[in-house]
Amino acid sequence: MNHFLDIHKTDQADLLAMLANAEQMKNARKGQPKGMPDADQPLAGRMVALIFEKPSTRTRVSFDVGVRQMGGQTMVLSGNDLQLGHGETIADTARVLSRYVDMIMIRTFDESVLLELAEHSTVPVINGLTDRTHPCQIMADMLTYREHRGDIAGKKVVWSGDGNNVCASFLHAAGQFGFDFTYTGPEKLDPEAEFVGYARSKGSQVSIERDPFKAVEGADLVVTDTWVSMHDSQSTKERRHNLLRPYQVNPELMAAAKDDAIFMHCLPAHRGEEVTSDVMDGPQSVIFDEAENRLHAQKAVMRWCLGV
Ligand code: CP
Ligand code: NVA
Repeated sequence: MNHFLDIHKTDQADLLAMLANAEQMKNARKGQPKGMPDADQPLAGRMVALIFEKPSTRTRVSFDVGVRQMGGQTMVLSGNDLQLGHGETIADTARVLSRYVDMIMIRTFDESVLLELAEHSTVPVINGLTDRTHPCQIMADMLTYREHRGDIAGKKVVWSGDGNNVCASFLHAAGQFGFDFTYTGPEKLDPEAEFVGYARSKGSQVSIERDPFKAVEGADLVVTDTWVSMHDSQSTKERRHNLLRPYQVNPELMAAAKDDAIFMHCLPAHRGEEVTSDVMDGPQSVIFDEAENRLHAQKAVMRWCLGV
């Protein structure tokens, strides 16, 4: 069994195999009703716990639907419902859940919760987002890029905005999938040096450019995310908005990228803040394909975790 904790902790060959499997499963069910079981039922008889300590639309629904399409069953648990929120240790929670379920997906705050759960669990654990990373999102994004533009290796990806958890997983992916990465945003919100260092250590050209218009020159892909993440205190909202306003993705910024550049956002988006509606709904945007691909990519991740 395998845990899926982060992009940089997973073998490159396995990542590529998962994307190929996701593509295959997606194609195999084209045009079918969403509730129709897949022809293959690799999760038959398997029970999957989906734990959410933060809100979610895409992660919650795509994991739930994905498990069911592959013949498994799910239970969706909120952190507050579990004794975890009332003093039971993470290690004991992991040991207990491992006796009931075949796999655990968790969305939590502190990365240490995910890591401790994985350490003490005898069943696979999947990172459904922490304050630091969001690897499932990036698997969907890699699948989406491939569908629209082919191999991402050697391309230029520009992240405009907060150097947050999704940005961190993009930096991991830059290292694993071989693309170049430019971060443009205010210095205070730069991605952690560890993530930048990882991408560089794998040969990716990573640059930090304060001028968003310069940053997007030659960009194949422009990405942004919310200015205030779920783990950020609401009291920082005004300060963050002031810092990030120059990094809004709008038609002027997209016009400075390559003509065939595409736009991604993990969603949920705040229209008119980090991105304007005309970009979100415009011809360069692939945001809803990204959202759909959460389903297909995660099905492949779950199969890899279980080895089925
Ligand atoms: N992109 C993403 O993870 O969305 P949710 O917060 O809705 O799960
Ligand atoms: N950066 C965002 C991503 C949501 C999917 C957050 O952590 O809230």
